[in-house]
Amino acid sequence: MQRDQGSGADAESAGRRGRGLVVAVDGPGGSGKSTVSRAVARRLGLRYLDTGAMYRAVTQLALSTRTDIEDADALAQLAERAVITCGTDPDAPTIAVNQVRVDAEIRTRAVTNAVSAVSAVAAVRRRLVAQQRQIIEATVEEAGGIVVEGRDIGSVVAPDAPVKVFLTASTEERALRRSRELGERGEDDVARTLAELGRRDQLDSSRSVDPLAKAPDAVVLDSTGMSADEVVEQVLKLCAKAGFAVPAASSPGRPA
Ligand code: DC
Repeated sequence: MQRDQGSGADAESAGRRGRGLVVAVDGPGGSGKSTVSRAVARRLGLRYLDTGAMYRAVTQLALSTRTDIEDADALAQLAERAVITCGTDPDAPTIAVNQVRVDAEIRTRAVTNAVSAVSAVAAVRRRLVAQQRQIIEATVEEAGGIVVEGRDIGSVVAPDAPVKVFLTASTEERALRRSRELGERGEDDVARTLAELGRRDQLDSSRSVDPLAKAPDAVVLDSTGMSADEVVEQVLKLCAKAGFAVPAASSPGRPA
């Protein structure tokens, strides 16, 4: 997607003018990153990358091959050899490991509870961050841009992204959303999800390599009490402010 030259993106460096749009969406689990990122990508006709799914895919592979998730060297080797393939259509994102689709498998509670340990391994991160950068570069070239969600996109993976959002919500609301996603209904389930989310937040924020962090130039959006549509509109406003053309809601942009 080319910058809308008429809207005066004067705050942006000349070096980035005319290049594609990368929207970095970071934040803790359950903050609504996936829903919002996919909707923004659809509206702008861009691609979509869920980097969390990549960490989940390595974790799923570790569990299915009985690799010790406390063994950093074993995980590093596993990640080095694994071929992870990400489909970046926001309407139907996909993930495969060694040519096998694992879209459902990566969402199990077992993977969710083990993924923080795997994503804390520096060599695993190096490998996946390199692949994420390649995907971003290729899709900017092919489709004009991409919306990328994760924990370290604005700070590490794409520090030059013209639009950076740090999406958050209260812990209670995030747990409720996660529980709903998992098809849970009971209060005990929500309490359990809340406890697990708290543990994962703590691990993701305190790890020594690329922890969950708000980039200094990211805009914080607290989605507590907001609908997904309202958050999407806020992100689109940031894209327009950065000088990119945003099509009206009734005419969703698609890549030419
Ligand atoms: O967004 P998610 O819940 O699917 O992410 C799964 C895990 O992967 C989460 O515990 C944090 C980690 N993660 C990460 O460390 N860096 C990213 N860019 C994305 C996810």
